[in-house]
Amino acid sequence: MKKTWQLEDMPSLKGKTVIVTGGNSGLGYESVKVLAKKNARVILACRSLSRGNEAKSKIMKDQPQTSIEVMALDLSSLDSVRKFADAYKAKHNKLDILLNNAGIMNVPYGKTTDGFEQQIGVNHLGHFALTGLLLDTLKSTPKSRVVVISSLLHKKGHIDFDSFSYNKKRTYDPQVAYAQSKLANLLFAKQLNHLIQKNKLDMTVVSAHPGGAKTNLGRYQDKGSSFNLVKKIIYPLLIQTADQGAMPGLRAATDESVTSGMYIGPSGFMESSGHPYIAKSAPAANDLQTAEKLWKKSESLTGIQYNF
Ligand SMILES: NC(=O)c1ccc[n+]([C@@H]2O[C@H](COP(=O)([O-])OP(=O)(O)OC[C@H]3O[C@@H](n4cnc5c(N)ncnc54)[C@H](OP(=O)(O)O)[C@@H]3O)[C@@H](O)[C@H]2O)c1
Repeated sequence: MKKTWQLEDMPSLKGKTVIVTGGNSGLGYESVKVLAKKNARVILACRSLSRGNEAKSKIMKDQPQTSIEVMALDLSSLDSVRKFADAYKAKHNKLDILLNNAGIMNVPYGKTTDGFEQQIGVNHLGHFALTGLLLDTLKSTPKSRVVVISSLLHKKGHIDFDSFSYNKKRTYDPQVAYAQSKLANLLFAKQLNHLIQKNKLDMTVVSAHPGGAKTNLGRYQDKGSSFNLVKKIIYPLLIQTADQGAMPGLRAATDESVTSGMYIGPSGFMESSGHPYIAKSAPAANDLQTAEKLWKKSESLTGIQYNF
């Protein structure tokens, strides 16, 4: 596997159909731009059609020949996820790449439409449901891929199964909830890969993280004095641009030398920037028992059973 993968190494994606969740902003937007430029047919899935159409217009201005379709998907509502999957399957009979990218970080306490704590709800459970509902299409597409975007912060994560659907507001720490959801992303990819191998499916599951990238993700970040210090002194040293941050996910989605079960991230200092290469995950992300328990809990909360 090449250590210095760049966009020039990405094969043509002509004939491929790709879904990018959260495709209107940050890493998702940059991914849509590149995938469309490489001639994929890209579905830009977003919770706001106006923001999605705005993103599409911006890309089409520079790349008028590309194929981008905007579709509504709100991962904080299982009803919306179902409607998206139904609408997608009514129009498309294949899905080569599902890039599960959308996410929220450090948001104040809140619940999804279905009553889940919103970071686990959007970042993990929404994508769990989406992937399950699209599994038949992924299965029937040769060499299809699912990519899951996690974070370096998964290393601070711990899965507290009782925190997924609080009935009453308990002590809530936005950073703890975000780290948990990003650990859940990796455990989901782990178990999905396991089940795909077990059922001998012609599919690849890869997880990735962007290191640190300048996007709109930090909009809920505590802007206190320690944040300003970090922002002024440490961030510029570690943070890369959004297009650079999109590279690990893009490599995970398109490089044929990347195999199922791999985890891709920047190869530079502390994995915060640099060429996308094999990344290191925390031991908790490789805990098979927790991965299986998370799978069962996710099935029971979402009501989505995977038909392998
Ligand atoms: N940037 C980083 O340094 C960094 C580091 C580690 C991991 N990540 C991960 O990278 C991924 C992309 O984040 P980003 O940095 O590109 O942030 P971003 O610029 O805020 O983009 C996040 C995207 O997710 C969408 N989204 C949020 N809630 C949604 C919902 N309920 N349904 C559908 N879409 C929803 C947002 O839509 P709206 O525009 O409508 O809000 C937006 O399109 C996330 O999974 C994040 O955890 C980022």
